[in-house]
Amino acid sequence: MKDLVRQKLSIHVEIMDLLNEQIKKEAHSSSIYLAMASWCDHNALDYSAEFFYEQSLEEREHMMKIFRFINDNGGTAYSPEVSTINHEYNSLEEIFETALDQEIKITKSIHNIVFQCRKLQDLTTENFLQWFVHEQMEEEQTIRRALELFDLMGSEGLALKLLDERIPHIRKK
Ligand code: FEO
Repeated sequence: MKDLVRQKLSIHVEIMDLLNEQIKKEAHSSSIYLAMASWCDHNALDYSAEFFYEQSLEEREHMMKIFRFINDNGGTAYSPEVSTINHEYNSLEEIFETALDQEIKITKSIHNIVFQCRKLQDLTTENFLQWFVHEQMEEEQTIRRALELFDLMGSEGLALKLLDERIPHIRKK
């Protein structure tokens, strides 16, 4: 039965498996950002906390876009398990550095699926993933803007408070 369903896929089976892996990665990102939001909240960095709450929601939306795409195209999307979420950080700067590393990993993963789509001539999925390619570029830019603030403003005492207040402005409208 499973093989029959797979034969009706309009996306390539190998690509569907990669997309299910991507669902796990997006869910993992969402949970990482939620843990970061909690750390910021506990350290009275309210604007950064809001940023990561929102970021966490966005990652869940990314996950759901891929989830629905698989199911809409005759495949089976699998609900992801998430584990090993770090809640210990030493500073806000470390949090943003970790977030940038995470986004770079996700960008590479998305690009890898696009390359596989090209190899297997899966134009449907390649077209679908263009939105993610663009989104990843924007997300990396946003976090790099936050890291630039640390270079400009420092990260101790009052500077950290002022930096936190700048965080809502790092997203391009
Ligand atoms: Fe959806 Fe930024 O990874």
